Amino acid sequence: MSSATPQGIGLEFFAAEQVARGPEEGWVSFSRAVGRGFHDPGTDADSEKILAEMDLKDGVQYIGAYDRSALAPSLHVSDPVGTYQYYPGTLNVGGPKNLAVHQITAVTVSPTHRRRGILRSMITSHLEQAERAGVPVAVLTATEATIYGRFGFGLAAEQCRFELNVEQGARLRRPHTGSVVAVDPASIEEQMLALRVEHQRLTVGAVSHRSFDIGRDIGAWENHGNLKPVKNLRAAVHYDAHGTADGYLTYTFDGWTKEPATMSVKTLCTTNGAARLELLDYLGAHDLIKRVTGSAPVDDVLPIALENPRAYRVLGRDDHLWLRILDLPAALSARTYYGDAQLVVSVRDELGYTAGTWQLQVVDGSMVVARVEGQDPEVWLDCRELASLYLGTRSATQLADAGLLDTATPQLLTVLDRVFAGRQAPYCQVDF
Ligand SMILES: CC(C)(COP(=O)(O)OP(=O)(O)OC[C@H]1O[C@@H](n2cnc3c(N)ncnc32)[C@H](O)[C@@H]1OP(=O)(O)O)[C@@H](O)C(=O)NCCC(=O)NCCS
Repeated sequence: MSSATPQGIGLEFFAAEQVARGPEEGWVSFSRAVGRGFHDPGTDADSEKILAEMDLKDGVQYIGAYDRSALAPSLHVSDPVGTYQYYPGTLNVGGPKNLAVHQITAVTVSPTHRRRGILRSMITSHLEQAERAGVPVAVLTATEATIYGRFGFGLAAEQCRFELNVEQGARLRRPHTGSVVAVDPASIEEQMLALRVEHQRLTVGAVSHRSFDIGRDIGAWENHGNLKPVKNLRAAVHYDAHGTADGYLTYTFDGWTKEPATMSVKTLCTTNGAARLELLDYLGAHDLIKRVTGSAPVDDVLPIALENPRAYRVLGRDDHLWLRILDLPAALSARTYYGDAQLVVSVRDELGYTAGTWQLQVVDGSMVVARVEGQDPEVWLDCRELASLYLGTRSATQLADAGLLDTATPQLLTVLDRVFAGRQAPYCQVDF
């Protein structure tokens, strides 16, 4: 299949099945272009084979933009000037079951070809295909916060980086209710898989992981470069009072040259608050260690749980998950809401997927969505803001204060805030 694009550029679509027999030249040149796009070191042939097999397992689809007029000698004769991948995944939207989504990744355009509309042609082609295939939502994580809003993506989950001073230990106010054991990361792959699934089931904003993530958690490789075993990766598992595993942690020591001596959390995947707190407490209990650093939800309860809340410092807070609604009734009806309500909402959407006037009727926590004509809207917003409202990332009041949502009456803000409220800030740990 191919599609119209900027002059001289052709889009090619191919599926992971086409690399089933191992990475052939098309896959290798695609992967090489992605590596260049993110300034990564290249990968050797053994790593390429493993990566291609994982792509196949994860059902990855590729869009490559090729410059038909490229002059030799140049990399553009063989390698795509634009790369884009997506694969089927799931997202916890706060409903009874996870929603099917497309996860978008590996988006790059060569510096020689940037700002000619290549990203636009790749993403709009993909979104059209996804909508036709009945995929209600597409998600991605972004290198820059300014790229994807124009394509209707809104902020769906943030993440913060924290630092915990453990010179005197973490000092939790409540005694442990479970226990922690140190393990070889490679020995708990099955537990990791089960705990990741359970964590996603319980965490709004969590998306499905890739095969790559598990390989990294067991220490088979790091995030970048050739896939070589990691020697300094450590792990621990938390068991609840009944002896059931309810969380795991992978971490590394940053080395003696770093002051203060620091343990870095790599993955902290838990299914309840006690598991999370007690695994971090375990890290803080390492002799000679003065700091623990890691990622956390923006409403992290760790400082509340400490004797000294000031031992916890937020180092940074950033957007993480971006969400694009393609099928508004399917997306909105997938989550649970609070209280009953009936609203007529006008949605702006430059790409058209969710544009129009919609009646949202909430009864007993379920929403029924219908397109309506001839009814006066009482709420106005862009699909970007709808994405933030959807998971409870932003309240209607916050969006209205930011000038991004209008209501016919102030009372409607109270209704929207109640209906779309979430119990926790959405949190997505997976990078993709
Ligand atoms: C980001 C990137 C893929 C954009 O590709 P591109 O082909 O230059 O983008 P396009 O020409 O299709 O631009 C489409 C629109 O996005 C805008 N845009 C593109 N990149 C942008 C950026 N980094 N910041 C802000 N706006 C950006 C363009 O101005 C254009 O806007 P308009 O259509 O409203 O005029 C490319 O710059 C790149 O490869 N960057 C490095 C790798 C990276 O960060 N990838 C993103 C991973 S999430």
